[in-house]
Amino acid sequence: MRDEEWDLEPDFDSLMKSERKHEWISEPRFKKLFNEIEHGLQGVMGKGRYDWVDRRVFDQVFDSSTLLAIHKMMQKGDIETIEYPIARGKEAHVFYATSNNGPVAVKIFHTTNAVFKSLAKYIDGDPRFGGLSRRHRELVNIWVRKEYRNLKRMRANGLRVPLPISHFKNVLIMEFIGEKQASPRLRDISVKNPFEIFSQLLDIIAINWQSCNLVHADFSEYNILIKNEDIWVIDVGQAVTNQHPNAEEFLVRDITRLVEWINRKGFTVDLAECLVRVLDEPVPKLEPLPGGD
Ligand SMILES: Nc1ncnc2c1ncn2[C@@H]1O[C@H](COP(=O)(O)OP(=O)(O)OP(=O)(O)O)[C@@H](O)[C@H]1O
Ligand SMILES: [Mg+2]
Repeated sequence: MRDEEWDLEPDFDSLMKSERKHEWISEPRFKKLFNEIEHGLQGVMGKGRYDWVDRRVFDQVFDSSTLLAIHKMMQKGDIETIEYPIARGKEAHVFYATSNNGPVAVKIFHTTNAVFKSLAKYIDGDPRFGGLSRRHRELVNIWVRKEYRNLKRMRANGLRVPLPISHFKNVLIMEFIGEKQASPRLRDISVKNPFEIFSQLLDIIAINWQSCNLVHADFSEYNILIKNEDIWVIDVGQAVTNQHPNAEEFLVRDITRLVEWINRKGFTVDLAECLVRVLDEPVPKLEPLPGGD
């Protein structure tokens, strides 16, 4: 969804339509379920019937199968309440939520058609997910599992990524990076030590490649959060193993973007040297972070 669409004035026709869209909620078998989780969704639903901003998020994200998934995760205690959206991306909405163990980030992947096309190219060719059904919903479920597993693998190798807590269907729960507000993306702040950040990011790419056997494949200032000067890498759903047929291509693209970033800050870093660093120079062995495997 484009930002302009998000900011549009309420369109009462479509609001009326969306009222009907959720008629399934009053079907007896869903009604009980929905009653059980309604209070936990108060934050994103809004309180009034025409609380249109919240309503839009609700309609876009919470279809019946997503609500079933959330119901299950609420019963487990992985989610207590879903409070408000932090971000909406092409593929997912991310919400600030509470759980038995404090705040969490809940990433809910959209299950509309357009999304699947863009996901397919990162899953075909990954040996860990061969032979599975190509059915659409199934693909999103695989995608979520992939992000979950990539997070674990990266943490096992000491890379600072959010602790994955649980996943079910199109919903991924992970450690919330921030305090109430999500931490800013590298894109959103001006750093006083860009070269230091650059070196750390290049090390992250190298460790991810050599120790995790992964390439992030969407490594950019949009997918790095900075909290207390620490670098957190997020959005690892599209990361593929080094056996993926396009792995090297994705790797070069990630490194190129990073080099372009630092050179925009007035440095003259050489791409070829960075490639050598990532591919051939030894990487430090970091302490594993909890929750990795
Ligand atoms: N664990 C987290 N803690 C805090 N904020 C988060 C977390 N995960 C994601 N976010 C916020 O949500 C935004 C979107 O998350 P992410 O990049 O994972 O989703 P996406 O839908 O793939 O996004 P895009 O399509 O824009 O790349 C991030 O830019 C960040 O601001
Ligand atoms: Mg992102």
